[in-house]
Amino acid sequence: MARLDSLMQCHWTALVILLLLMMGTMVEVTSAVQNFTLGFLSPSMSSEIPPSLVTEWESAFRVAVEVMNTKSEKYNLWPHSVPSGCNWEIARTGAHVMMLPNDTIPPLLGVVGPACTPAAMSAAIVLSGEGYPLVSFAATGEPLSNRDTFPNFFRTVYGDSFQAEAVAACIGKLNMSSVTIIYTQGQYALNLANNIETTVNGTANLRMEMLSPGDNLSIDVSQLDGILSSLQPLDFVILVVNPQEAQDIWAVASQEKRLEFPWWYFGTDGVTAFNPADQIPTDPTLVNELVGEIGLSPYGGGYAQNDICEEYYSYWQVAKYPGLPTGPQNNSRSYTPYLIDTVRVYFEVCDALLAHNLSITAENVMSALNGSGPLETQPNFQGCTGLVAIDPTTGSRSAKDQIPIYDLVSLVPQAWEVKGRIENGNFVTLQPLTRPNSEFAPNSTYTGPNPHKRNVGAIVGSLFAVIVILSIVAIAVYFYKRRKQREYRSSRPFVRVPK
Ligand SMILES: *[C@@H]1O[C@H](CO)[C@@H](O)[C@H](O)[C@H]1NC(C)=O
Ligand SMILES: *[C@@H]1O[C@H](CO)[C@@H](O)[C@H](O)[C@H]1NC(C)=O
Ligand SMILES: *[C@@H]1O[C@H](CO)[C@@H](O)[C@H](O)[C@H]1NC(C)=O
Ligand SMILES: *[C@@H]1O[C@H](CO)[C@@H](O)[C@H](O)[C@H]1NC(C)=O
Ligand SMILES: *[C@@H]1O[C@H](CO)[C@@H](O)[C@H](O)[C@H]1NC(C)=O
Ligand SMILES: *[C@@H]1O[C@H](CO)[C@@H](O)[C@H](O)[C@H]1NC(C)=O
Ligand SMILES: *[C@@H]1O[C@H](CO)[C@@H](O)[C@H](O)[C@H]1NC(C)=O
Ligand SMILES: *[C@@H]1O[C@H](CO)[C@@H](O)[C@H](O)[C@H]1NC(C)=O
Ligand SMILES: *[C@@H]1O[C@H](CO)[C@@H](O)[C@H](O)[C@H]1NC(C)=O
Repeated sequence: MARLDSLMQCHWTALVILLLLMMGTMVEVTSAVQNFTLGFLSPSMSSEIPPSLVTEWESAFRVAVEVMNTKSEKYNLWPHSVPSGCNWEIARTGAHVMMLPNDTIPPLLGVVGPACTPAAMSAAIVLSGEGYPLVSFAATGEPLSNRDTFPNFFRTVYGDSFQAEAVAACIGKLNMSSVTIIYTQGQYALNLANNIETTVNGTANLRMEMLSPGDNLSIDVSQLDGILSSLQPLDFVILVVNPQEAQDIWAVASQEKRLEFPWWYFGTDGVTAFNPADQIPTDPTLVNELVGEIGLSPYGGGYAQNDICEEYYSYWQVAKYPGLPTGPQNNSRSYTPYLIDTVRVYFEVCDALLAHNLSITAENVMSALNGSGPLETQPNFQGCTGLVAIDPTTGSRSAKDQIPIYDLVSLVPQAWEVKGRIENGNFVTLQPLTRPNSEFAPNSTYTGPNPHKRNVGAIVGSLFAVIVILSIVAIAVYFYKRRKQREYRSSRPFVRVPK
């Protein structure tokens, strides 16, 4: 019996040891999953970005992190969102909060965001102090390419010199012979307006108007009144402002009756981040008046036709996170696909570091991004927005690996609809554009502000040209005729037709 007892005891001991061993390996398996925090400096608390877009971006960030975590067995990145607003001050505070030691969350690896250029500048400087990389999905201001000032800043978007080329392409393609550029004083608008002026380089007649902020509105109303009332009928207005400023400018333009035919506005990416769907409940009249205004938007990746992006959107749908982009296929969503690709940059770099037997640290991620790490650790993958690679000399999206694509968009009541595509500063497609207020405008498919195509306009136009060529006598005849035909001329397309 005693022998049996000891035999059983022996078995028990063996079993316990075996169990402990098994548990040990299990513990080892779970603890082998390393955890890091991936920060998101979200534009929440900003008055410049529409709340619906903030919600969309917050969700897109979580969706991207969660989808990517399902693919990685060795590590997890935990999403941690901190408000950064759209300006220098809030982002600076946000970046400090992001770096606070916090026992309840894993160590910080790097940060995604901010969306706005000034916010990205101050956050980059703060995070640089502790050696954290910052990768933005929407801050396009050219000064951020300065490697001496912002060595830890990277972005999956192109710098604004490429957007300026796309704007210049539109100026040429739409025959904008006389252009008034209205811009504001922030880092984004100031620099982009400057980039456009440099790129156009005298090939079109540009009038630059810098708007000051107002007391209780984002813009100075009386200054804007002055600019708008000095516009000539054939002037094209290019707005280089943020979404809130665009909305305020349009509200004033509406009061001044400068949204009516023949006035036509063209907005840069900040303007097309204005979401008409947000505005419809509070101001349906303004949105109606804006139908037909045009602008530029970074290529949205057409997620419906893109398997890589589709995965994230179906997860988003199933997880029921708010702000899922909907609407027609051609809708270009402001920077959401770039945000998804930005999150993926971190995962791709982590995978590559592990494949190189390098540990996942903020420093190694930084080296991979700034090009000082092994070549294979630099991000280079097919994402929602094409081939994603960073140019280490600028920290920006590499235009060599993926040519810059912008969409020419036109406002329909619920959204901005894609009407054309500009690749590398050249139009590859352009559908006919319908001008705003076309019930007052000629019913032709109008592709430019040039009224010479119109029947009456064409007659007057060629008459004018002939007269100029002929002589002063002919001009006198012309003015004589004009006096006699004032009634007839009030129907010229570039004279505002009263309602
Ligand atoms: C990482 O997080 C998971 C899930 O919370 C946990 O099971 C695991 O032990 C953590 N790993 C480490 C090394 O703490
Ligand atoms: C730590 O992080 C958690 C989760 O984000 C947050 O709720 C908490 O306020 C943070 N604590 C400190 C001291 O920052
Ligand atoms: C701008 O135009 C001037 C004169 O037309 C020309 O000399 C110069 O090379 C142009 N600059 C650029 C950057 O194209
Ligand atoms: C803005 O402030 C001025 C006085 O400073 C006031 O007259 C005006 O009504 C205000 N406008 C709005 C939209 O609040
Ligand atoms: C818009 O979508 C339609 C069909 O969904 C497609 O035929 C058309 O080419 C698209 N336009 C652009 C500019 O992508
Ligand atoms: C990583 O380490 C493993 C095993 O130690 C080795 O087989 C592999 O070649 C190493 N990889 C690189 C890229 O150094
Ligand atoms: C890249 O980042 C690493 C890690 O922070 C740093 O040591 C190195 O000097 C940086 N190189 C360049 C070219 O910025
Ligand atoms: C243009 O067409 C619409 C409907 O097709 C019509 O209501 C409008 O009066 C037309 N405008 C002009 C100037 O002919
Ligand atoms: C622009 O002008 C050119 C030459 O004057 C003309 O051929 C072209 O059709 C015009 N384009 C548009 C969109 O009006």
